[in-house]
Amino acid sequence: NNASVVGGKSFTAVAINCASKAGEWIKTKLGNYASLDIKYSSHDLVTEVDKGSERLIRNLIMTHFPQHSFLGEEGVEPGPAASTQALEDVREAEYLWIVDPIDGTTNFVHGFPFFCVSIALAHNGQVIVGVVYDPMKDELFVAERGKGAYVHGKRMQVSGEETLRGSLVATGLPADHQYALPLNLKGIEAVAPKVRNLRIAGSAAMHMAYVAAGRLSGFWEIGLSSWDIAAGSLLVQESGGVVTDTNGNPYQLGVRNVVASNGLIQRELIASLAEAKADK
Ligand code: IPD
Ligand code: CA
Ligand code: CA
Ligand code: CA
Repeated sequence: NNASVVGGKSFTAVAINCASKAGEWIKTKLGNYASLDIKYSSHDLVTEVDKGSERLIRNLIMTHFPQHSFLGEEGVEPGPAASTQALEDVREAEYLWIVDPIDGTTNFVHGFPFFCVSIALAHNGQVIVGVVYDPMKDELFVAERGKGAYVHGKRMQVSGEETLRGSLVATGLPADHQYALPLNLKGIEAVAPKVRNLRIAGSAAMHMAYVAAGRLSGFWEIGLSSWDIAAGSLLVQESGGVVTDTNGNPYQLGVRNVVASNGLIQRELIASLAEAKADK
C-alpha cells in the first residue's frame, strides 16, 4: 500500500516503534520522575518524562521522515487557545504527526496505572494511522485507515450495546476549569443517571481505545486538544464506531468537544448532552 509507505519505511511501523520505545521508558520512570511542573493550573501537570517522551518520539519520526510536520503537546504553550492555534499553524501540512507523549500525566504522577502514548499521522488533514500504547498492560492499539484496528494483533470491534441504559460510558475532568470543566460536570449530571455506569479514568486516548475495543460503549469530553483525540478517533472508526463533535458533525482534526461511541448510542448520548446544555 503506497499511501502508508514511503521509500520502504512504513508509517505504521515507525509509529509503533516510537510508541513502544517511549512507553517502555515511561514505565521505568513510574514513581521515579525527577521534576514536576505546573502548566496552566494546579490541575495541569508536566514532568521531565512527558518532555523526554516527546523528544524521543520526535527525534525518531524526524529521522525517518524529515519532511513531515510534527505537533506534540509539550511543544505548545499551555491552555486551550494556544493548542487551537498550534493546530491551525500546521494543519495544512501534507503529512502531520500528532503526538501526546503521555496521555494521563496526572495518573502517571500519582502512580495510577492508566496512561498511554498516543501517536497519529494525518495525511492532508485526515488521520491515516493511529497508535495508542499502554505500557502498564503492554497493550498496543493500532489502526490504519481502511484496514481495521487491532489490539495485540487481534481485530477490534465496538460493543453491540444499543442503549445508554446498558452502556458503560467514560468522560473526563479537564484542566480548563473556566470553560471545559463546568460543561463536563453538567454532562455527568445528565448522563450518569441514564447509563449503567460512568468511568472517569484520566486518559482520553485510552478511553477512546477502550471504546474501539468494546470495553466502553461511549466516551465524551468537552475541551480536548488534537493530540488527545487524533489516534483514538481512527481506532474507534476502524472498529466500526462513530466519532463526532457534540453537534454530531463528523470528527476532523479541530474537534475539541468529542463524542465517540459504538455508533448505536451516539444519538442518545449527544441528545442527553444537548438537553442538559452540556455540549458547548
Ligand atoms: C488529559 C487527559 C485527561 C483529560 C484531559 C486531558 P494529559 O491529557 O486525557 O483524561 O480529561 O482533558 O488534557 O494532559 O494527561 O495529556
Ligand atoms: Ca497535559
Ligand atoms: Ca492528553
Ligand atoms: Ca500529555
